[in-house]
Amino acid sequence: MPPHPDIVLPRLIAHRGLSAHAPENTLAAVRASFEAGFHWVELDVQLLGDGTPVIWHDPTLKRCSDGHGQIARLGLAEARKLDVGAWFGDAFRGERMATLDEMLELLSSLGMGVNLELKIGRNRSATELADVVIPRLLASLPPEQMILSSFDLSALAHARTLADASRLPIGVLTESVPQEWQPRCEALKAFSLHTDWTRLNATRAREIKDAGYRLLCYTPNDPAAFVRHWTWGVDSAITDDPSRFAGIAPPPEP
Ligand code: G3P
Ligand code: MG
Repeated sequence: MPPHPDIVLPRLIAHRGLSAHAPENTLAAVRASFEAGFHWVELDVQLLGDGTPVIWHDPTLKRCSDGHGQIARLGLAEARKLDVGAWFGDAFRGERMATLDEMLELLSSLGMGVNLELKIGRNRSATELADVVIPRLLASLPPEQMILSSFDLSALAHARTLADASRLPIGVLTESVPQEWQPRCEALKAFSLHTDWTRLNATRAREIKDAGYRLLCYTPNDPAAFVRHWTWGVDSAITDDPSRFAGIAPPPEP
C-alpha cells in the first residue's frame, strides 16, 4: 500500500506558481496563488553554477529574465542582479530569482503545499541536487505539505535513501505512463504518479488508482477537455490557471 493514505490533496495545483497570472517560479507567483485561494503550487528546482539551489525551470536565462546564458554558469551574486519579472509584465519589474531557501520560507509561512520538481541541470548529477534539496525540504515543511517529483528516476532513488516514505512523499513523473509503472513506484515507495494529461487513458488511470496511488496530471488548461479525467479518478490537475477550473473540478476526495 502506498504511504500517506490520509493526505488530502487539492484538486488544483498551480503550475510553476500561478504562471498564467505571474512570472513562473517566483515568490510573486506563489503569493498570487495563495491570494487567489490556491494553496498548493508546483515549482522547479535546480542548481546554479556555485551550487545554490534556485527555483527555475529552464537550463537558460533568456525566456524568463533580462539575462542570457546558462544557469549552470551563474553564481548567486550575478543571479541576484537579474530581473525575472519584467518579461511577464511591468507590475512584476524588479522581481528577483528565488533561492530554494527563500521559497521554502514563504511556503512555510503561508502554510502552503508544494510539489517540488527536481530538474537536473547540465553537468550536474542527480545525487548532488537531491543532497542539497532534500535536507532543506524536510527542515521546512511537514510531509502532508510536500511531494518531491522528478522525471529522473536516479534522483528519486537517491532522495529515497535520504528520507523514508513516512517523511518524504515521492511522485514519479512521466511523460506517458510506462508499462512497468507499478514496480517503479514500489521500488521508490512512491506516493503518487504524475503524467501528461493528454497521454493518459481511463484503463491506466484506473490501474493506478486501484493500486492506491495518487494520480496527478500536468498541464491541463482547458477545464472542459479535462472533465472526463476527473471521472477516471485523477486526484489533481497541475494547471497554469486553476481559476479557470473553479466550479468545474469536483470537491477533494475525503
Ligand atoms: O511537474 C509537472 C510539470 O511541471 C513537468 O513539466 O516542464 O513544466 O516542468 P515542466
Ligand atoms: Mg515542473
